[in-house]
Amino acid sequence: EKDGYEHYMLKEIYEQPRALRNTMTGRIDEAGQQIVFPDLQLSTETVKGIEKIYIVACGTAYHAGMIGKHVIESLAQIPVEIDVASEFRYRRPLFKGKTLTIVVSQSGETADTLAALREAKRNGSSILAITNVVGSSIAREANHLITTNAGPEIAVASTKAYTSQLIAFYLLGLYLAQEKETLPSEERKSLIAALQKLPEQVETVLAHAEGIHTFAQSIKDEGHLFFIGRGLDYAVSQEGSLKLKEISYIHSEAYAAGELKHGTLALIQEGTRVIALSTQAELHEKMVSNITEVKARGANVLGIALEDNVELHRSVDDVCLIPSTDALLTPILSVIPLQLIAYYTSVALGNDVDRPRNLAKSVTVE
Ligand code: BG6
Repeated sequence: EKDGYEHYMLKEIYEQPRALRNTMTGRIDEAGQQIVFPDLQLSTETVKGIEKIYIVACGTAYHAGMIGKHVIESLAQIPVEIDVASEFRYRRPLFKGKTLTIVVSQSGETADTLAALREAKRNGSSILAITNVVGSSIAREANHLITTNAGPEIAVASTKAYTSQLIAFYLLGLYLAQEKETLPSEERKSLIAALQKLPEQVETVLAHAEGIHTFAQSIKDEGHLFFIGRGLDYAVSQEGSLKLKEISYIHSEAYAAGELKHGTLALIQEGTRVIALSTQAELHEKMVSNITEVKARGANVLGIALEDNVELHRSVDDVCLIPSTDALLTPILSVIPLQLIAYYTSVALGNDVDRPRNLAKSVTVE
């Protein structure tokens, strides 16, 4: 059932192109011009009335939500607040006006997320669930449903569910923008075309991943590592850092690159390993200067960058290249090497990759 792969996690990493295609299937019209969401019962009038969106989730699903916030705000111009479910539940959020609460959960059974859903519902918010399990509690209790069609995910560390959740957010962001008319149709069309190219580009990233074994070997005995990035790259850094912690048990911290100099830079010493993400053209220059800051203190830097970003290549020790795409879509490609780094580091350490210590695939206690 592992199809010849040594672990479920590796199988699921390689299943991503198919999972992404399946999550897009039936949700884009044949001409590639419009998002059609036959399963989503959100009328144009309802969409136009939404004043605020909350996103609540746990773990990896929360990290997908961080990207979702960015996507929805920039495409549909609706303000979005995001919380981890266990915080949202007890902080008494202000439900004023028409709100939509988006709950994201692979399993659809996470107790903290379900409790947050119920709390939002009690406060009169409409609920949209993004989940991978159709008959789950979260799917049943929500008013609106977007299923991610990633197929069953067995490994505790989530991979294909995460990238499929990102696809769900891109489709949703485009759909909201289309109904609200906040995005010129030409831009929507070109974003849809870029979206449809992603599965193939993920295949390209997977086919050129040989160097990652060696990199994993080189970090397996480290005590701690840093992931740095700005904007969407910061959100992906958080996911990369979580993956590494979950299955290799190496401590790492994801830091907004611009915030380093306000404290954490003190922890960078000779030989400190840093993984720097730089996929956003408008932030390249700033990232290069952050990389220079850590290099000046002796850090050894792996850059994750777009293939055409030559300036960045020159400023790092090693580089892992990803194909060019629309700036909003890079997380789907940049997270792949981070998943593989976590995987191969865990393997190099002889850990139980699919069932890491102290963690469960689905946590049904609050
Ligand atoms: C955690 C899992 O406990 O639950 C994580 O170990 C997962 O991998 C998180 O991201 C949320 O799970 P779900 O099913 O709600 O997406």
